Amino acid sequence: MTGRDARGDQPRESPVSVTRFAPNRHVSRPVARRVAIVGTGVIGASWAAHFLGRGLDVVATDPAPGAEQRLRADVAAHWPTVASLGLAEGASTDRLTFTADIAEAVADADVVQENGPERVEVKHALFAALDAAARPDAILASSSSMLPPSLIAQACTEHPERVVVGHPFNPPHIVPLVEVVPGERTSEDVVQRAMDFYAGVGKRPIRLRQEVPGHIANRLQAALWREAYSLVERGVATVADVDAAIAHGPGLRWAVLGPFVNQHLSGGPGGLAHVLAHLGPPTEDIWHDLGDPALTPQLAEQLVAGVDEELAGIDPADLVARRDAVLHALLAAKAGIDLP
Ligand SMILES: NC(=O)c1ccc[n+]([C@@H]2O[C@H](COP(=O)([O-])OP(=O)(O)OC[C@H]3O[C@@H](n4cnc5c(N)ncnc54)[C@H](O)[C@@H]3O)[C@@H](O)[C@H]2O)c1
Repeated sequence: MTGRDARGDQPRESPVSVTRFAPNRHVSRPVARRVAIVGTGVIGASWAAHFLGRGLDVVATDPAPGAEQRLRADVAAHWPTVASLGLAEGASTDRLTFTADIAEAVADADVVQENGPERVEVKHALFAALDAAARPDAILASSSSMLPPSLIAQACTEHPERVVVGHPFNPPHIVPLVEVVPGERTSEDVVQRAMDFYAGVGKRPIRLRQEVPGHIANRLQAALWREAYSLVERGVATVADVDAAIAHGPGLRWAVLGPFVNQHLSGGPGGLAHVLAHLGPPTEDIWHDLGDPALTPQLAEQLVAGVDEELAGIDPADLVARRDAVLHALLAAKAGIDLP
């Protein structure tokens, strides 16, 4: 992303097109000018700030009383961070409009990013309304963390081929990852356009080859948490020890490169093949010893007490600010270095 000053009264110079994360695919047509945000809670507000920062027109909808004021306040709160990560030409919070009418919100959108409550009956009601009101060529993307797109698209009788999951990592105005998950009826053209759209707004989209609960990143986190909880339950480590083991250990490398490339680089000239030959069998031994804890009330209490002890005397809001400052510096550093 390149930094530019926000000048809200400028006419939009250029719509978003793919440049950054898809360097080998030239996309000459604009991917999107106008995005509809359906549901403006935690994720919807963060998406809105991000898309506005990329110079798009954003129209938002949410039936909750006071939703518009909350959204505008949330976008204003996110804006300094969005601006410091770099604004597109013409980006402005003035490009945000709000309507309580969902049909009106999506009628002229190129992309609809849905962020309603994570309940299947709500998603079905929303996607039935989106299917009826959006343009046939509009992409309908759900932020759903758990629901498969094939299930969500069951509500779409007109054009189920334009439904994908576009799952962000919280907060989407900071963390680049988006998991694009096609359903069984999603067209290849829509998957490509969704990938291009997210890449064009500075995200790092990855495409899933199958629908699985939790997509990829949350499954990987769940695998780590399973063993972390087990280590505490077994008395091997305190909560603070586990946190230190990741945050001051492999977490540092994982923030730069993924687990496979890091493992490959740890193998010297023999790379991953050498690592697997030598460390594969002991790793399998560890797999046999990994825990499979039940999340009992006792274990939950132990974990919460452990975090309370670790953070005694620390203001959580202050810690969030410090964490985000480091995250921001890390993203800036990564943007300046060529990494896979
Ligand atoms: N919170 C996260 O960390 C996270 C991360 C990635 C994805 N997600 C996904 O994003 C989605 C939203 O999660 P959230 O954490 O922002 O929830 P949230 O509760 O903060 O927001 C949900 C919003 O939807 C609104 N809503 C309810 N009914 C609606 C309707 N009929 N039309 C439009 N809006 C309606 C609510 O008023 C509320 O503002 C979920 O699908 C969730 O799985 C959440």
